[in-house]
Amino acid sequence: MEKNVRPESMKRITTPELANAFIDEQVKEIKAQVGDRKVLLALSGGVDSSVVAALLIKAIGKQLVCVHVNHGLMRKGESEAVIDMFGKVLDANLIYVDATDRFLNLLAGVSEPEKKRKIIGAEFINVFADEARKLKDIDFLAQGTIYPDILESIKAAEGKKAVKSHHNVGGLPEDLKFELVEPIKLLFKDEVRVVGEALGLPHAMVYRQPFPGPGLGVRCLGAITRDRLNALREADAILREEFDKCGLAEKVWQYFIAVPDIKSVGVKDESRYEGWPAIIRAVNTKDAMTATIEEIPYEILHKITYRITHEVEGINRVLMDLTPKPIGTIEWE
Ligand code: XMP
Repeated sequence: MEKNVRPESMKRITTPELANAFIDEQVKEIKAQVGDRKVLLALSGGVDSSVVAALLIKAIGKQLVCVHVNHGLMRKGESEAVIDMFGKVLDANLIYVDATDRFLNLLAGVSEPEKKRKIIGAEFINVFADEARKLKDIDFLAQGTIYPDILESIKAAEGKKAVKSHHNVGGLPEDLKFELVEPIKLLFKDEVRVVGEALGLPHAMVYRQPFPGPGLGVRCLGAITRDRLNALREADAILREEFDKCGLAEKVWQYFIAVPDIKSVGVKDESRYEGWPAIIRAVNTKDAMTATIEEIPYEILHKITYRITHEVEGINRVLMDLTPKPIGTIEWE
């Protein structure tokens, strides 16, 4: 337990120099812990797992085996970015698993949000465990646990109730017993980012907005269908592109599209055109416990609305979510 407590003497990592000192120290520790054995890592492409991957690649190179599970609920271009950065640029030992069909088949017809989250979380572990069993000589599992996760589990142990069941790799089956490697478990998110940049990861990856483990699954509201999921992915890509262009991407903490399972009547090429609405959510927060709404200029909203309704098959309206947290949560499910 002692090792899970951040010592008061530990300096906040705010500069490249402090990050480099942290990296040197961790590289030594990882080498001492792992020796010439192998480490497995579930690499989602999120900030935490990416920084852990880069640290381990620096420390032990190809002794790290990264598994990237594409659950079919990633944003547009995300899995490709992981393959490019880790498979090609960093030349990591990377296994790519396209498990889209496994996930979408299990989720078909399931509309209850917590049930969807549980299915996605459990299947993620199943897919990852299947890969781990194929690799015979692995002794360690690396995880992108950060200090807020540890503080959160302390709270959970004290019996405080969570609003949603969050998805993280954990609870692997009994036959898979690994020793854990958690090199960033005493860091806060802002420190992880400074370390990521010092490790040479691209700015866009290190400052990526948070993305929930269940991915687009909790934004394709109700029972997921492939056509509505695709429409959501395309609309979300347009929103991100437009936010990048006008500088909002640097300013807004989290922004995305949600697509509910309702259709309204519209008109296209002088004919009736039924479609789903795309809902824009753009929020600012410090710690995700409360959140306020970003006021987006109308000019930008008009452009996004035009592009989404003209470029995305199946979307005929764009709405804006003006609800702070509380009363809304940041995600819709
Ligand atoms: P809510 O919707 O609870 O979200 O206000 C707060 C923050 O957490 C993110 N989120 C998740 N992150 N696994 C994660 O790692 C999850 O299962 C998950 N669900 C929500 C959400 O995107 C927001 O930033």
